[in-house]
Order: sequence, then structure tokens, then C-alpha cells
Amino acid sequence: MSNNTEPLPGTSDIWEPETLDWIELENAARDIFHRYSYSEIRTPIFERTEVFVRNLGTETDVVQKEMYTFEDRGHRSLTLRPEGTAGVIRAIAGHGLDQGDEARVFYFGPMFRGERPAAGRRRQFHQVGVEAVGSNSPWQDVEVITMLVHFLERIGVKGGKVNINTRGLPEDRAAVSAALKEYFAPHAHEMCEDCQRRLDTNVWRMLDCKNETCKAIAEKAPIIVDLLGPESRDYFDKVCQGLKETGVDFQFEPRLVRGLDYYIHTVFEVTHSGLGAQDALAGGGRYRITFPGSKNAIEGIGFAAGMERLLLARESLGIKAQPRREADVIVLCLGENAIVPGIKLTDGIRKEFSDLRVKADFTGRSMKAQMRGANKVGARLAVILGENELDQGVALCRDMTSTEQTAVPLTQLFDFIRKMTF
Ligand code: HAM
Repeated sequence: MSNNTEPLPGTSDIWEPETLDWIELENAARDIFHRYSYSEIRTPIFERTEVFVRNLGTETDVVQKEMYTFEDRGHRSLTLRPEGTAGVIRAIAGHGLDQGDEARVFYFGPMFRGERPAAGRRRQFHQVGVEAVGSNSPWQDVEVITMLVHFLERIGVKGGKVNINTRGLPEDRAAVSAALKEYFAPHAHEMCEDCQRRLDTNVWRMLDCKNETCKAIAEKAPIIVDLLGPESRDYFDKVCQGLKETGVDFQFEPRLVRGLDYYIHTVFEVTHSGLGAQDALAGGGRYRITFPGSKNAIEGIGFAAGMERLLLARESLGIKAQPRREADVIVLCLGENAIVPGIKLTDGIRKEFSDLRVKADFTGRSMKAQMRGANKVGARLAVILGENELDQGVALCRDMTSTEQTAVPLTQLFDFIRKMTF
């Protein structure tokens, strides 16, 4: 029987020491992205459903099978965001981006997809992502991919494989689709149900189906870049050349098309062997998105990395944040009369020592029980305040490592603490 104190399948509670790893990732991301001149944006967790349907594409798995969509009390169809890009671009479009303006933003946060839960595949997962909007230069693509690699290096995730491909300009699509259809049509009956449907609705996705039979057939499919016009090919050449210049170790992956329909030109993914079956650590690409009422299509490039997957990759490499002591100093209040002075003293220590974690025990428990509590939180110093100590204007300081106890006048307590190493 399911226990109703457990989180729902595919969701988790995250707390210390795990949260320390999350904070490390977030701090590293903020540091790196700020250095590339990106600023942080926070958009709502739910949006009008059409924000996602229009932009991700009606034939994508995310829109067809995975969105958490509900009607609110005003009978509006709303959806918990399955990804960050559409909402961020909605925000930027709403803000008004004039021709020639640029916006560069990054974000963290929960995303929701109703997928079958597995290792590294969650229903509520978290992404760290960036979007660089307003520049249609291939050098912008180079910068974004280089920044992703820089970020992965910074968080210690070695061994990621950067795969890149191009989907070309929208005007080249019809020729590619026709060639792919011609190739796949005679094989369709051997392929999975999804691919049989995709032959008419989204033939590009037949290239990166995970089914083994489909994969074998897709191996021999025409190469997208060979079917594109000169402008698209030239764009892709510049991106590849730029990545060589910035020293990014990448591989051309001719069957990479990505699962969302807004992409044009460059698409990329980083995979990592430490992740098992769900091996995509991050993915992204260039996109063109339009909103009803906004003047121009918005073009940008970005990526998102799954934070759970980044943490799994780090773990596979033996990287974990150091667990913290729950308290460095604990003030034990013995007896009713010691509680108020004890709380004041605790407050004073916190204000004087900004880098110490300080806790007060005002449970009124016995000395023995409070000392057990002090050990449990890993305290380095216990400051014991009882009636006798209060009468004498001292606190009994117990070094929890050496067990040495010293009666320290309250007026000298801060100096005593300052001399200790924590
Ligand atoms: P995406 O490839 O759908 O792209 O997701 C990006 C990353 O999110 C994946 O590489 C994976 O690490 C993580 N992820 C996706 N689904 C799950 C899941 N169910 N459980 C755990 N992690 C997951 C996007 O979302 C695009 N918005 C990226 C982008 C930004 N393109 C341009 N700008």
C-alpha cells in the first residue's frame, strides 16, 4: 500500500546534505553566467497552455503525452511548465524587444513532465538554463555552447560528450522532409508505432527514435546537412569553426534533431556515460518563436541542463558537497531561569560571529539529554548556562573534542570563542 507521507512517484523531497550539492550547482551557475553577462530571470511555474503548444509543437512527445494541463476556476487551460524556454521568451516578448535589442538570461527551477519515472527521469525535475535572444550570429551559438562546457568544467563534470547538428533554416525544411519521407516510407512497416505516425506528422523525429530497429534503419537515412541550402550550410560551418577556435571538443551527430519543434540551425546535446539509460545531461539549440501580437519572431539560442542529472554525473565521478555540521556552537539552558539569558546569549553569539552556526537548546531537558543533543548536531563547543553559572556571571564552555570544561566570564565569552578553531 502506498504511504501517503511519501512524495508522489517521480517527485522527491530534497534536504541536507543533498541541498548543499544543489546550492553548489546554483552558485557555480550564477558565477559562470554572470561572467558571460547573463542576468537571472524567474518566470511563473504555470502558463497558458497555448504558450507551450504553439512553440514546442503539437507533434512533440512533450505536448502530446507529457504535459500537466488543467482548467482553472475561470475555465482557462493552464499547464505546469514542461521546460523553461517558451515562458522566458513569452516574458521577453511581453517586455518588448525592439529589432537589434539583445537579452541574455539564465534561470533555475522545477519543470514538469508526466513521463514514466526511472533513474534520472522525473516528473518534477529541475533545469538550469540560459537563453540569448536577439542575435542571429553563429558566433552567439559558439558562445552559448562554450559557456555550457565552461559551466560543466566548473562543477567538475568531466567526460561529457558534446554532439551537434543543424536543422537549417525553415525554408530548407520541405526539401529535407521530402527526402526523409522518401527514404523512410518503404521501411515504416518495420518501425515502432510512434515512427509510423511520425512518417506523416513529424518525419524528422524518425531520425532519433530510441527503438533499436528504428535506430538501425535511421543509420542509413539521408544526412540533413547535405540537403540544406548554402545559407544554412554556411551558418553551420561557422559554428563548427568557432567551436574549434574556442577549443570545444565536439562531435557532428547527423541524426540529432531534438524533441522540440522550435529549433532552427544549430542543435546540440551533451551526454554523459555516468547517467545510464537517460544519458542526456543538457540540450539546446537555436530557435525562432512567434507570439500572437508581438511584432517580430524572436530568435535566440539557449540550453537547459537537468540538475538531477548534473548531480548524478558528479556523483558518478565521486563529487559530493561536504556535509555541514548542524551547529558549531550550542547553548545549553539548564533550568527554567536559564532560558531567557540563554536565548539572549545565543543571539549575541550569532550577531558577533557571522560564519558560525549557533543553536540553543531550550527544551528544559536534563543535562545528560542536552549533551546527547549537542553530540548529535556535531557541535564543536557547548556553552552551558545553569543557575550556578548565572549567579556567578559565567558560562561553562565545553570543548566537545577534548571534553575540557572552562568557566568563562560572560564578558570574555566572545574572546574565548574567537580563539577556538571550528
Ligand atoms: P530538453 O532536452 O527537453 O530541452 O531538456 C533539457 C534537459 O533537461 C535534458 O537534457 C535533461 O537533462 C533534463 N530533463 C528533461 N526531461 C527530464 C526528466 N523527465 N527528468 C529529469 N531531467 C530531465 C529543453 O527543455 C529546452 N528548453 C532546452 C533549450 C533551452 N533549448 C533552447 N533553450
